Amino acid sequence: MPLKIIRGDITKLSCDAIVNAANPTLLGGGGVDGAIHAAAGSGLLEECKTLGGCKTGQAKLTGGYKLPCKYVIHTVGPIWRGGECGEKELLELCYRESLSLALEHGCKSVAFPLISSGVYGYPKAEAFEVAVSTINGFLKNNSKEDILVYLVVFDEEAFRISRKYVNYLEND
Ligand code: AR6
Repeated sequence: MPLKIIRGDITKLSCDAIVNAANPTLLGGGGVDGAIHAAAGSGLLEECKTLGGCKTGQAKLTGGYKLPCKYVIHTVGPIWRGGECGEKELLELCYRESLSLALEHGCKSVAFPLISSGVYGYPKAEAFEVAVSTINGFLKNNSKEDILVYLVVFDEEAFRISRKYVNYLEND
C-alpha cells in the first residue's frame, strides 16, 4: 500500500525524504521544525539560510545532514483563520508540491508530519482528512511512480484520529 500511517517521531525515520512543517523564513522554529533542526545539526540551518524563504503552500528541498534521511523537504502550511481563507487549498498544495519535489529527486519513500495541525492551529481531524485525501489523489495521478508515503502521527489526539483510518495503520 503506497500510503501508510505510522506513529512516531519523524526525525527517527530512515526514508529518502522527510517533510518539515516550516514557516516562511525557513530558519527554524518550534514543533516538528525545531525537532528536525535539532536532530539535523547546524548544517541544515546554514543551507536553509541560502534558500530565501518559502511561500505558504510551496516547498523547498535541502540535505538531511545528521538525520537518517537523504533530504528534508520544507513546506509552509497555512495558518488556520477559521477555514474561509483558502486554508484547505493551501494545505493540499503543501502535500502536492512536496510530493512533486520528492519525485523530481528520485525519492522512493517520503514521510509527512500532519502539516499545520500544531502551532498553526488547523483542526487535527480536518488536517488529517486533507492529508490522506491529497496524498491518495497524488498517488492515483502518479500511479506509475514507485513511491511509498508515510503519514507520521505524533501526539495523542492525532493518534486517536488516525484510528478512523485503521486500514492504513501500521505499527512503528
Ligand atoms: N515527529 C512527527 N510529528 C511531530 C513531531 C515529530 N518529532 N513534533 C511535532 N509533531 P507543528 P505547524 C506534530 O506545530 O502547525 C513551527 O514553529 C505535531 O504534533 O510542528 O505546521 C514552525 O517554524 C503536529 O500534529 O507545525 C512554524 O512557525 C504536527 O507535527 C509553525 O511551527 C505539526 O505541528 C508551523 O506550525
